[in-house]
Amino acid sequence: MSILKLGLIGHPVEQSLSPWIHSQFMEQAGIEGEYNLYPIEPEAFDTKIKALMQSGIDGFNITVPYKQRIIPFLDELDPDAEKIGAVNTAVRKNGKWIGYNTDGSGYVRAMEQVIPAKDSLHILMLGAGGAARGIYRALVAQGFRYVDIANRTISKAEQLLQLQEPETVTEILSYREAEQQLSTYDVIIHTSSVGMSPNSDEQIISMTGLKSGAVVSDIVYKPIETKLLQSANQQKASIHHGHSMLLYQAQYAFEIWSGKQVTIGDLLHRLEQRLTEA
Ligand code: ATR
Repeated sequence: MSILKLGLIGHPVEQSLSPWIHSQFMEQAGIEGEYNLYPIEPEAFDTKIKALMQSGIDGFNITVPYKQRIIPFLDELDPDAEKIGAVNTAVRKNGKWIGYNTDGSGYVRAMEQVIPAKDSLHILMLGAGGAARGIYRALVAQGFRYVDIANRTISKAEQLLQLQEPETVTEILSYREAEQQLSTYDVIIHTSSVGMSPNSDEQIISMTGLKSGAVVSDIVYKPIETKLLQSANQQKASIHHGHSMLLYQAQYAFEIWSGKQVTIGDLLHRLEQRLTEA
C-alpha cells in the first residue's frame, strides 16, 4: 500500500501540533504516512491550493484564515460543514474532494467525556464567532436541546440560530444577562479568544454565582489554565481544558482519512506536557 499523504494549510502553521498528533495516530493504526505543514500566503492561495490538491495528497486540514476560502475548490461538502460554512478537513475519495468540519464535533466529543446525560442540560455558550458556529451546530446535532448564547454583538449571536434543530431552545443574551443567570447553567463553554496569551489576565465574564457542580470549558488552551477556568475552579466547578479539542478534532479527521478508529489514551497527558513545556 502507498503511504498516506496528509498535511495542514494555513497562515501561519509553523506552531501547529497537528504533525505530532497525526504521527501518533499513524503509529497507533499501523499506517505509514506523512503529515506536512503547508504555509500559504493569501496572495498565492488559489494557485498553491490547486497545485497541492493535484499533488497526490490524500487529505489535509485547513486552518485560519482559509476555512471558508477553501470551499469553492471542493467537489462536495458534508451537510454539517455546509451549514457551518467552514471546512477544516478535506479528503480525496474516488477522485473527488470532500470537505468536513471536525472542529465543533471534536469539541463536543471531548466534552462528552466529562458531562452527564444530555437532553435536560442547560448550556451557555460565550461568544458567537467561527469556533462558536461549529460547536453550536455539533451540540444541537448531538441532541443537546437547551443551548443559550451570550455575545458582545447580539446580531452575531442571532446568526447562529440558523443552525438549530427543530427541538432546540436557545435564548440570546448579553454578557451582563449571562452573569445574572449564571446559576441556571449546568455547562458553560467559552468560545472566544478572550484570555488567550498574551492577554491571559482577561476573562470574558465573572464566574460568581456558578451552580455547584457545573462544568466550565474553555477553548483557549494557551495558557492551559485560563483565568476563566481558575475562577471556575475556585467556585468548585469541574473544569474542562480546551486542548483536548485539538486531539478530538484530529481523531475525527484521521478516521475520515484512514477509515481506522484510533484512541486518545495517554495522548491527552502527553499533549499537556508539550504545551506546558512550549
Ligand atoms: P473565531 O473564528 O476564532 O471564533 P471570530 O469569528 O473573530 O473568531 O469570533 C471571535 C469571538 O470572540 C466573537 O464572539 C467576538 O465577539 P463579537 O462577535 O462581539 O465581535 C469575541 N470577542 C473577541 N474579542 C472580544 C473582546 N475583547 N470582548 C468580548 N468578545 C470578544
